[in-house]
Amino acid sequence: MRVVVSIGGSVLAPDLDAERVAAYAEAIERLTADGCEVGVVVGGGGVAREYIETARDLGANEVELDQLGIGTTRLNARLLIAALDESAALAPATGYDEAAAALRRGEVGVMGGVTPGQTTDAVAAAFAESVDADLLVYATSADGVYDADPNADPDATQFASLSPAELVDVVLPMSRDAGASAPVDLLAAKLIDRAGIRSIVLDGTDPSAVVDAVLRGDHSGTDVIPADAREPTRWTEAV
Ligand code: UTP
Repeated sequence: MRVVVSIGGSVLAPDLDAERVAAYAEAIERLTADGCEVGVVVGGGGVAREYIETARDLGANEVELDQLGIGTTRLNARLLIAALDESAALAPATGYDEAAAALRRGEVGVMGGVTPGQTTDAVAAAFAESVDADLLVYATSADGVYDADPNADPDATQFASLSPAELVDVVLPMSRDAGASAPVDLLAAKLIDRAGIRSIVLDGTDPSAVVDAVLRGDHSGTDVIPADAREPTRWTEAV
């Protein structure tokens, strides 16, 4: 089973805690030990936001801010690589071909951001598409996809599952409202829809949640299921 895991920067390294990074590395090694081919995309988190805020005060333009953001995603990716064993690629890939080549060599392919104007949500979807991944998992600070912002609306309800087209519809208004943050951004949702990628959005605070989701389909987040998707055979065998 080939899987791409997107780990938000605030999930991988809140406060740059070494234990959390080590626990994520263990979770990924658990997946590879179980025979999974794993690609990982790492986000920038609070470190990216701090750099971007300071550079904005200095008058940097949006592309320059994005380049700073990309730099911090790659720093975080290097942090994960430092914790992974020798099965990981030596450095974060800077493009999809390089990341895919790492998977072909049997390595864990790790990457951060790629190009200005997007986030690592979209990178993860494009990486998953480029390697024909069976599954894409977003380990985020939100515990799934809601019909409204759960931080602002007490009546917000979590979707147990939805189609990629429904995901686009849910995320679209959130991308228009300043301040409301979608668990997966609009470009990522569109790529998931276009390619029909089976995905899961879950709370990544505990890295073992990613292992349970990948190996057994067991999680309390949201499934994004394309119309023609078949259950990964590994999940049916695991029951
Ligand atoms: P993240 O993917 O961490 O963005 O990339 P985010 O949505 O702010 O993070 P979370 O999900 O809330 O934790 C950090 C920043 O890096 C730039 C963007 O500026 C983004 O906000 N970036 C990242 C790019 O410009 N291109 C990329 O391909 C990736």
